[in-house]
Amino acid sequence: MDKTVKDNVITIDGPAGSGKSTIAKLLSKRLGLTYVDTGATYRTLTLIALENNIDPEDAGAILEIAKKSSIELDSDPDDINQFTRVKLNGRDITEEIRSESVGLAVSVVSKLPEVRKYLVGLQREIAGRNPSVLEGRDTGSVVFPDAILKIYLTAGLDERVKRRQKQNSEKRLPLRESGVKKEIEKRDSIDSSRKASPLIVPDDAVIIDGTDMSIEETYDKIKNLYYERIQLKN
Ligand code: DC
Repeated sequence: MDKTVKDNVITIDGPAGSGKSTIAKLLSKRLGLTYVDTGATYRTLTLIALENNIDPEDAGAILEIAKKSSIELDSDPDDINQFTRVKLNGRDITEEIRSESVGLAVSVVSKLPEVRKYLVGLQREIAGRNPSVLEGRDTGSVVFPDAILKIYLTAGLDERVKRRQKQNSEKRLPLRESGVKKEIEKRDSIDSSRKASPLIVPDDAVIIDGTDMSIEETYDKIKNLYYERIQLKN
């Protein structure tokens, strides 16, 4: 891989609700990096499975359709409260991929090694075009293990539940009967225990526990680390 590309990549991994998206969007906006929401790509393939009545464990059938489809991610750096806009064959699916049904099935689809291999390729392609900040579960361990800065961002469960509820209400997503806490706990457990690219702390990652930190404090810490690393390289 091109050295300059790795030097311009920040990865942020961590469990659901840890603040990865907010921080990644701030870094994108203020440092001029492309924001790559890798979770949105797993959600898109999950929607493909659900809409086409494909068993979410059937990687072959999901990929057959995915490979023929165009998937576009588009983040507006000026609007950090919005989700990445996703288009599937030109159709805006931003809202659909945040539905409860996709949220419940995405952990099944993202366990499939063939799906992961395909999406890691897509994520590297998108991030390879410009200096980028990637956010997800394996962006530092698998997608860009040589990134100049790898962050593992976490926070206590209650704090993560609180943040996710706030995020959902700000985005006017319907309240979920199953409860945000249950969904987060279930996804964390599947994401961390799966065989293919589980959520782990990547080698050499900087661990940040943001439970008692503000967004700005977390942002500053990561920005300073990024500048230090870049200076060291030059
Ligand atoms: O970040 P998110 O909540 O949109 O991610 C949805 C799911 O996608 C998450 O539960 C696990 C999966 N995912 C993954 O396996 N690897 C990534 N790099 C990003 C997300």
